[in-house]
Amino acid sequence: MAKIARIWSREILDSRGIPTVETACMLDSGHVAVASVPAGTSTGTHEAQELRDQDPKRYLGKGVLQAVSNVNSQLGPAIVGMEVTDQEGVDARLIQLDGTDNKTKFGANSILSISTAVSKAGAVASSQALYIWINYLAQKLGLKPPLRMPIPLFNMIDGGLHGAGNLDFQEFLIILASSKTFSQSIQAGVEIYLTIGESLARRGAIHSVGNEGGYAPNLFTNADALEVLVESIKQTSYSLGRDVFLGLDVAANSFAKDGEYVIKDKSSPLDENQMLEYYQSLNEQYRLAVLEDPLSEDAWSGWKKLNELLSSQLLIVGDDLLATSPKRVEKAIAEKSCNSILVKPNQIGTITETIKVIKMARDAGWKIIVSHRSGETNDHFIADFAVGVGAEYCKFGAPARGERVAKYNRLSAIELELSRLRR
Ligand code: PGA
Ligand code: ZN
Repeated sequence: MAKIARIWSREILDSRGIPTVETACMLDSGHVAVASVPAGTSTGTHEAQELRDQDPKRYLGKGVLQAVSNVNSQLGPAIVGMEVTDQEGVDARLIQLDGTDNKTKFGANSILSISTAVSKAGAVASSQALYIWINYLAQKLGLKPPLRMPIPLFNMIDGGLHGAGNLDFQEFLIILASSKTFSQSIQAGVEIYLTIGESLARRGAIHSVGNEGGYAPNLFTNADALEVLVESIKQTSYSLGRDVFLGLDVAANSFAKDGEYVIKDKSSPLDENQMLEYYQSLNEQYRLAVLEDPLSEDAWSGWKKLNELLSSQLLIVGDDLLATSPKRVEKAIAEKSCNSILVKPNQIGTITETIKVIKMARDAGWKIIVSHRSGETNDHFIADFAVGVGAEYCKFGAPARGERVAKYNRLSAIELELSRLRR
């Protein structure tokens, strides 16, 4: 088998122009695999910590030279000589070297860049496609995932911290019916995306795009953005409620203050119960399929109430609530806080821990959504990862912009391969 011969790292830019870490893993066979890590804008407080230099003279303090140096001089040398296919062993070593709960010593960005590069190199060493290798790693960790194409949650309109417009809710999503193949979903997603662009231009709402490629308009209310989606879908050949459904990533942390929520749709701040009533009325009107982070990340009793009210009708998704953290997922399962998890490997910091969290969620009967971050690179690792762990859904942004379509295009290639395998 192949051993890790060398690990090295450098600072590159993500899709927002903010530095991030890229790491290469060379095997004793001479093969090299490279991975880079994403970063969030609306990060939850319970995520593993990414390390930033905080040097105001470089990149407004956002440089990652320290994280790069951690890889080059400490973490990398410590795993040289290990078997590259021993992902669990490599990750355990990285976790042990860091020794903190939240990866604060070396940074989740440096640790995940190695963990991901090693998993890519493991696929090369075993002459497997990456998604098949991930599937094997998942099986070894007790998950029994089918190899399946995830259904994309397309982000069409960006608000909150992601959009240059004035909306409070962060993502207005469309989800294609499960009866569609992946390539049909991509085509429908793009046709609807382009139609939304035309609708916004006709209304005179500015339609620059936000961090994840969704349009970032100025509108009167958040509900107006849902109206724009409804109107636009009507102009296509797809029917709302049959071919396509609506969803929201509210990212409520960004506008929650002292237990109250301030949104454009209401003239005064809403308390938690009023916010829940508002979601119920939105759901009655728009038949939502997905509702992510409807309340702030520590509003546990509110999440439980909402889940009781709506979990039989739609996906109640924990992102900032869960932070891909085993402790928080355990609590959310016990308290029945939600019925699905948004999985972001950089919220926890290694591939092994990410798969273990997916297993916990799976054992609880939850749905799995593998997700990008608002700051992405062209690395399409998470496309292979989503297929390999058998996720029902993926959330990779709008079907536009290079760093987003890198993932969708990779999924298209996997769809072709899987159809040939099954023929
Ligand atoms: P982030 O946003 O990457 O900025 O955290 C993505 C999300 O909230 O789902
Ligand atoms: Zn989110």
